[in-house]
Amino acid sequence: MKILIMFHSKTGNTRAFAQSILTKLTATGHTAVAIELQTEKEIKKTSFRSKQEIKITNLPDPSEYDAVLVGGPVWAFGPSPLIMEAISQLGDLSGKICHSFITMHFFFKFLGGSAALKHMNRALASKGGQVGEGFVCYKMRGHFDQQIESKSAQIAKIFTK
Ligand SMILES: Cc1cc2nc3c(=O)[nH]c(=O)nc-3n(C[C@H](O)[C@H](O)[C@H](O)COP(=O)(O)O)c2cc1C
Repeated sequence: MKILIMFHSKTGNTRAFAQSILTKLTATGHTAVAIELQTEKEIKKTSFRSKQEIKITNLPDPSEYDAVLVGGPVWAFGPSPLIMEAISQLGDLSGKICHSFITMHFFFKFLGGSAALKHMNRALASKGGQVGEGFVCYKMRGHFDQQIESKSAQIAKIFTK
């Protein structure tokens, strides 16, 4: 399958998650591409609810892919404003398998993780994607690398039939 991994990462945690997903999908015979979203200017407001202009310079075209994985950090108890903007600008996702993956500090999903997944998944579904529940790795819990290893293996398994 052709799988797009589109993600935002400021301090590298979500990048490590995306990289691990990419490695596992590639190892299981898929053609996966990871795109780290870039913006013209630094994102000033951390809440996705705040109005701000975000110009993405490398938004991928999902039409070339069978599946789209979307990742980002939890910011201000919700999704990354950049990932929400990117999803809103994506083209049609009808018929595509979509999954969200996030990283966050607190080991409590209610401190932003649930809200991030809810909004990301809803936005993906509104584009026609067939959306799963989503995957979270928590910094505060420790063993972050092991969490990444296990969650990315779960994601790769979805595509192993
Ligand atoms: C502006 C900002 C807001 C954050 N808000 C939250 C939050 O509400 N809940 C939480 O658990 N972590 C929060 N964090 C921590 C990040 O979600 C966490 O460090 C994440 O793994 C960073 O991902 P990255 O390294 O890919 O940027 C916040 C971090 C930043 C920079």
